[in-house]
Amino acid sequence: MILVTGGAGYIGSHTVKELLKARYEVVVVDDLSSGHREFVLTPHFVRTDIRDRQALTEVFQKFPITAVTHFAALTSVPESVAEPARYYEVNLWGTFNLLEVMRAFGVKLFVFSSSAAVYGDPEKIPIPEDHPTRPKSPYGRTKLMVEEILADYAKAYDFRYVSLRYFNAAGSDPDGEIGEWHEPERHLIPIVLEVAAGKRPYLEIYGTDYETPDGTGIRDYIHVSDLASAHVLALQYLERGGKSEVFNLGIGRGYSVREVVVICQRVTGREIPVREAPRRPGDPAVLVADPSKAMRELGWKPRFTELAPIVETAWTWLQKRQNLR
Ligand code: UFG
Repeated sequence: MILVTGGAGYIGSHTVKELLKARYEVVVVDDLSSGHREFVLTPHFVRTDIRDRQALTEVFQKFPITAVTHFAALTSVPESVAEPARYYEVNLWGTFNLLEVMRAFGVKLFVFSSSAAVYGDPEKIPIPEDHPTRPKSPYGRTKLMVEEILADYAKAYDFRYVSLRYFNAAGSDPDGEIGEWHEPERHLIPIVLEVAAGKRPYLEIYGTDYETPDGTGIRDYIHVSDLASAHVLALQYLERGGKSEVFNLGIGRGYSVREVVVICQRVTGREIPVREAPRRPGDPAVLVADPSKAMRELGWKPRFTELAPIVETAWTWLQKRQNLR
């Protein structure tokens, strides 16, 4: 049985769906601080916080866990700058807690949600895994520090891990069962679509003076179900005896904020008013992955290789969610 921490969240819930499709048994642990109970697609659910070692111990006593995929974390870069202590407590100490319970129960396989935020400002594009890591925020530092702990554990103990460095997760389950739902919403594509839906008056473009062709930030948007399938492959790789590794996950192609707006306009058929605003502190100009290592070593191949179909899944989900309310 696979333990998925944060399995009620955006990427975690999509990964649970892929794990169930691949016939794994899954138990989800989530404190529902940002996740949604109705997103938990397995019957095995325990509401708890990863900082609670006793509660985690009881989960490992109750379920025959053989591997862990660990999503539970705080995920906002600006919030981590304002409140670093919370980030170190949940992302770093909470993860350490989980690793120690795994060690006590002899559970040896671990898939970790890392982030492109570990790289900081890129020296070259696309970014390979051996690019220098100089995170610019406490959030990015917690992800990098956990990767360092994992490397130490793998050296010292009978323990193997895969760390997946996500670029920009986007879109929603093509079946419409689960989707992207953050409160408050901070990510570009859902915000643009809320403008298209008339729920917000305009999009603020954070920075129009970057050294990019149209002056706006460029990101590599990867469909959340493709991210999810990479977790299943990472788990199977570890189960086959694969050695500990770090992989980038992106489609290897960047879109600027203005390009995202144009594509969203085309997909929705709606006008999307924009206002130019100052840069958001800490935002790199360009983040594009070199995902070739994951493709080669995990056999991963994203189904969505262009932004328009990714936006379509996000738009379908947003409309469904509005009707639900
Ligand atoms: N943007 C806007 N207006 C908005 C929201 C975003 O112009 O209202 C821009 C941002 O400046 C950026 C791009 O749209 O250029 C994407 O922004 P997101 O907030 O959607 O995503 P980020 O690239 O900031 O964040 C992602 C992940 C984080 C990760 C980070 C690494 O969501 O978890 O990349 O830098 F830490």
